[in-house]
Amino acid sequence: MAANTFGEIFRLTTFGESHGKGIGLIIDGCPAGIKIDELFIQSELDRRKPGQSKIVTQRKEDESFVIQSGVFEGYSTGTPISIFIPNMDQKSKDYSHIEQVFRPSHADYTYQAKYGIRDHAGGGRSSARETAARVAAGAIAKMILNQVGVQITAYVSQVGHVMMDENKEIQIDNIENNIVRCPDDETAQKMIDLIMQVKKEGDTIGGKVACIITGCPIGLGAPVFDKLHADLGKAMLGINAVKGFEYGSGFACVAMRGSEHNDAFIQKDGKIQTKTNHSGGIQGGISNGMPIHFNVGFKPVATIISGQQTVDINGNESIAEGKGRHDPCVVPRAVPIVEAMAALVLVDHLLRNKTVRV
Ligand SMILES: Cc1cc2nc3c(=O)[nH]c(=O)nc-3n(C[C@H](O)[C@H](O)[C@H](O)COP(=O)(O)O)c2cc1C
Repeated sequence: MAANTFGEIFRLTTFGESHGKGIGLIIDGCPAGIKIDELFIQSELDRRKPGQSKIVTQRKEDESFVIQSGVFEGYSTGTPISIFIPNMDQKSKDYSHIEQVFRPSHADYTYQAKYGIRDHAGGGRSSARETAARVAAGAIAKMILNQVGVQITAYVSQVGHVMMDENKEIQIDNIENNIVRCPDDETAQKMIDLIMQVKKEGDTIGGKVACIITGCPIGLGAPVFDKLHADLGKAMLGINAVKGFEYGSGFACVAMRGSEHNDAFIQKDGKIQTKTNHSGGIQGGISNGMPIHFNVGFKPVATIISGQQTVDINGNESIAEGKGRHDPCVVPRAVPIVEAMAALVLVDHLLRNKTVRV
């Protein structure tokens, strides 16, 4: 049942479960000579880690990690890079109530039905704990992308019905200044209040993460099946709890006419650019040098405090109790995950692009 590897040249394999010994990853295909900044990997893991604020799950993990191979005197050697992140704060007995019953809208039923066995503790492999490995690998991908001037920035643009004013300029520098990771302080406070209210009620709420990529070279993306937006879509839809992906004008394009949607070409600063960017920086599946922008929609996650109607593994009626620590809203922690997955797609296409012409 192999589906734990992502990428064609820069290949990431992740392993591990929420309440096992730890989470880990192997990157095969990282070019040699990349300066591996361990402090940067740690700071990226810290942005994703549980227990970082009052609006996320209170599981405590310091996310310390060990690089086991592939790095010599601070530089990648071109051999497989292996990183291990031990689990420190498992409370597996908190999950004994779901050993026999399926939580509605979680992965319990489908894992059991498919494999006939499942590690139920903390959701096992289906837990978002696995995304720590993606964030560590994404940090290394970002180190390579930085060398060619690619910047990836994600932020929370909506929680429930609280959303940012689309006409306001985005203050990129302000994203990390509040616990919800929304660049607009006023909207951020409303989002925090809403998450706290939902948490008090023992419920969960959905949200949206927006992502902007600048400095992407022209020509990334491999038509026809590996179009850049298709690979970004796969990367985003592969993140736990994601329900929607749109790039450029997204679903709003449905209500537009070609005359308003078309991005007119212009010459600016000696380069071919477009006047508008409804294409979201990608045309025909290939980056066109304009900023790439997309949105990712996250559902209100399954774990709620009130008991829910369900069945047990024998099909008998049962109640799923809402015990265990959980996120009332995942988007503040999802921001670095979205960036990491985008970085993995871009670095892979950057390396693939080197084989296009001799
Ligand atoms: C950062 C993050 C944290 C999450 N925390 C929880 C949680 O505390 N409780 C929960 O039920 N689901 C949580 N999820 C979602 C589950 O992992 C996910 O819903 C589950 O694996 C089923 O997959 P699906 O929703 O993609 O179908 C989280 C997701 C992310 C991205």
